[in-house]
Amino acid sequence: MRHFLSTLDYSRAELEALLAAARALKAGPHAQSLAGKSIALLFFNPSLRTRTSFELGMHQLGGKAIVLEPGKGAWPIEFDDNVVMDGEPEEHVREVARVLSRYVDAIAVRAFPKFQRWEVDREDRVIQSFARHATVPVINMETITHPCQELALALTMQEKLGRLDGKKFLLTWTYHPRPLNTAVANSALILAAKMGMDVTLLCPTPEYRLDDRYMDAAAKLSADQGRTLTVSHDIASAYRGADMVYAKSWGALPYFGRWDQEQPIREQHRHFMVDREKLELTPDALFSHCLPVRRNVKVSDWVLDSPRAIHIDEAENRLHVQKALLHALLTGLPTGLPTGLPTGAL
Ligand code: CP
Repeated sequence: MRHFLSTLDYSRAELEALLAAARALKAGPHAQSLAGKSIALLFFNPSLRTRTSFELGMHQLGGKAIVLEPGKGAWPIEFDDNVVMDGEPEEHVREVARVLSRYVDAIAVRAFPKFQRWEVDREDRVIQSFARHATVPVINMETITHPCQELALALTMQEKLGRLDGKKFLLTWTYHPRPLNTAVANSALILAAKMGMDVTLLCPTPEYRLDDRYMDAAAKLSADQGRTLTVSHDIASAYRGADMVYAKSWGALPYFGRWDQEQPIREQHRHFMVDREKLELTPDALFSHCLPVRRNVKVSDWVLDSPRAIHIDEAENRLHVQKALLHALLTGLPTGLPTGLPTGAL
């Protein structure tokens, strides 16, 4: 049994096999290969795309998805060990993970950081606890990385750009009034490096670098494939030559939990918003964003409504890649798809 917690646990060949399966599923029609199977979708945070695409994907493959919101319709859960549970949580993850494992064939979890102490949040304790105690595969629906979004981004870029090796990927920080999760940025960085792209991370100051775990992993993935990973704080030079511009906002890690001190720095960099002037610094770069997006704060109307924007395609592809993932994890054998997956791919 394998979990899907981070793409760092999967080789490029394994991810490419999943993407091939997703393409086949997208081309349809396909069998209801998950008839009789079920998944519990645990949402500790809100969602539009993830919830819709997982529920619908499971339905389209003939299976059943059950949405649970701990603390809101389901009991609040304790994650600390060796505690006297005299607070709000009514049950422990040790019971929750094992009970759900008796009912369903997989458990998917969305659990964002608490945004108080990064050294605590970076341990990704909620999903790691489920992975430790569940006896069925656990899928990351966004914690401190967002691997399903990575798959959708990869599929979309391949559809639009063809082979990704050597293409220039710009991951740009963009302004948002609040400090957001680094998950999608961590994931985009890893994915682009894993796919053999030349990657530039553009952010306002060195304080906005991502966690070393992801910077180092991306640097190694790039180096292993003879590619480059560059960190830049200069907007014009970073955009020049890009084939793909991917935007995300995130909070600066050195200010984690002290967000009032980060706010004045963030406010100085409103001009990082992706707009026509910046996109026209590139030859003909495509643009995407994981969504949700605040128009004319993170990205201008012109960019989002231009033919270069592929964020809606990426959102659609969440459905197809997750169906491929569900099929692979829940059947154990990547059979029954038109292209199939290589033996032992998952
Ligand atoms: N991109 C993404 O995960 O969207 P939701 O937060 O709406 O699920």
